[in-house]
Amino acid sequence: MDYENLLLDQQDGILTITLNRPQALNALNTRTLHELHSFFSSDYRSQDQFHGIILTGAGDRAFVAGADIKEFLSVAEDGNGTAMAHRGHEIFFQIERFHVPVIALVNGFALGGGCELAMACHLRIATEQAKFGQPEVNLGIIPGYGGTQRLNQYIGKGKATELILTGNMIGAQEALRLGLVNYVFPSKEEARARAVDLLTTIGQKGPVAVRESIRAINAYYANSEAFATEAQAFGAATMTEDFREGAAAFVEKRPAVFRGK
Ligand code: COA
Repeated sequence: MDYENLLLDQQDGILTITLNRPQALNALNTRTLHELHSFFSSDYRSQDQFHGIILTGAGDRAFVAGADIKEFLSVAEDGNGTAMAHRGHEIFFQIERFHVPVIALVNGFALGGGCELAMACHLRIATEQAKFGQPEVNLGIIPGYGGTQRLNQYIGKGKATELILTGNMIGAQEALRLGLVNYVFPSKEEARARAVDLLTTIGQKGPVAVRESIRAINAYYANSEAFATEAQAFGAATMTEDFREGAAAFVEKRPAVFRGK
């Protein structure tokens, strides 16, 4: 398909995909999710052979600042929250199960769906400016693209629960300490060089061994019931007045007042 929001660039067998909506801090709208789905399900076959992917965000402020909140409000109106979460799960599983490694190069905010997208990648390399978090509670909802599952997997239940319930952000060094990212570098150029280095090393290994390693590692974490619970819970949260209030407060740039309804 023709991409509006993804930029593709291939050099020396490494494909860089840049999420390109910097005016919205690269927030994931329906179109961007559709393009990711199209790429990871079939379009990748039309690329020249590549042995690794770097996924990053355009501009110097964000990797991805989450799902597109402005578009989100219509979800509540249509009652499609659960379906939306299932769709996100499907796309992020495609990335997690991709046959060559995908490295998230996190150059700023990785919040909500952005943190979830980075976590669906096989490795994460951040710049010092990177910030991670699951701020959905600020909107009266919960993570819906696998965050309740994968954050546990990377940093353990205690810290994952703290971050999901408070919506607090953590910086790159804290993310490194917790095991959420593999490396932190002062600049995007240095972070990118490390990503290229790692993908070049992996590209020299047996492609079948790489592919099967990814498949076997993922098998340990495949709990479809838990993901279905997240989708259902996300759907329920999007049906509340609290979510309407939270999303409206974001758009109006004011604090939300929740009533538990
Ligand atoms: N969806 C839609 N638009 C978003 C967005 C999102 N998730 N995140 C940021 N934007 C937009 C803002 O609305 C703003 O647009 P505007 O210039 O038309 O007003 C623009 O991107 C810049 O963001 P802004 O909030 O002005 O920048 P900031 O430096 O003050 O704050 C953040 C940066 C990331 C802390 C803040 O944008 C934020 O909290 N974003 C939402 C994060 C979130 O809750 N994600 C989970 C969604 S489920």
